[in-house]
Amino acid sequence: MNKPRILVARAVFPHIIELLEQHFEVEHNQADAAWSKADLIARLHGKAGAFTTGGERIDAELLAACPELKICANMAVGYNNFDLPAMTARQVLGTNTPDVLTETTADFGFALLMATARRVTESEHFLRAGKWSKWSYDMFAGSDVHGSTLGILGMGRIGQGIARRGAHGFGMHVIYHNRSRLTPDLEAACKARYVGKDELLAQADHLVLVLPYSAESHHAIGAAELAKMKPTANLINIARGGIVDDAALAKALKEKRIAAAGLDVFEGEPKVHPDLLTVPNVVLTPHIASATVPTRQAMAKLAADNLVGFLVHGKPLTPLNPE
Ligand code: DGY
Repeated sequence: MNKPRILVARAVFPHIIELLEQHFEVEHNQADAAWSKADLIARLHGKAGAFTTGGERIDAELLAACPELKICANMAVGYNNFDLPAMTARQVLGTNTPDVLTETTADFGFALLMATARRVTESEHFLRAGKWSKWSYDMFAGSDVHGSTLGILGMGRIGQGIARRGAHGFGMHVIYHNRSRLTPDLEAACKARYVGKDELLAQADHLVLVLPYSAESHHAIGAAELAKMKPTANLINIARGGIVDDAALAKALKEKRIAAAGLDVFEGEPKVHPDLLTVPNVVLTPHIASATVPTRQAMAKLAADNLVGFLVHGKPLTPLNPE
């Protein structure tokens, strides 16, 4: 019997390609350059499944051009690249990779928070540029992490991981805002207090964004929200770029209306708003919050297992829109 045909839209670990080749006829993106939409559609034509990485937009136009497509398996927990209603209408399953990246991503959220608060990259650039000539009482004086107020916007699994690290590891006072409130047990485990969005903005010394991107969360942090934050506050975004209005943020940073920001994600990435590149009080990383070797392997394996589970055994592991 012919094996089902699948497309792997970006380069991935060779052992994952080998695993997929046991079950499928695999076309994969060996060059690892992002395909244009037209290229993606042309390559997906006739394929039953797609291994996607979060950058490939799966929408009604693509679905109409790929009638044999049955599943798109994202190697990411976020799935804002999927038009899920359009996929559901066409009976195309979407899957993502929850849980396997939670702790790694929460670790990175904390790394970015600390690097931002303690001005790690800014001071390293200063040292490497040969500018360090003396001790000075206020040289790169930043803000404290321990004992401060940690605000979390979006309290899913990763948000809770950040809350636990802050509360238990650093004695931070944790407040959060989310579409729905956590159960009392979860709030107790995270030592987190639910507040309204305005109180979150006004009280947080460090505000971490961990909410999913959607039309509703587009520019959830813009000029008006930044104006409500403390001038000493730091903003950390490990969620999705479009959640922050990057132009407004660059302006707020330049005018020191907030102290600093740590950003792992950007509107229109891999492009970065040019104004963010010119302000010193921002730590910038290229969307690597889940990037440890074991976690990226686990994400790739789960995406592959979803393809095998669904196309070979009829049972995906982590479906987003089950029938
Ligand atoms: C995710 O899993 O959504 C990450 O952003 C991808 O690295």
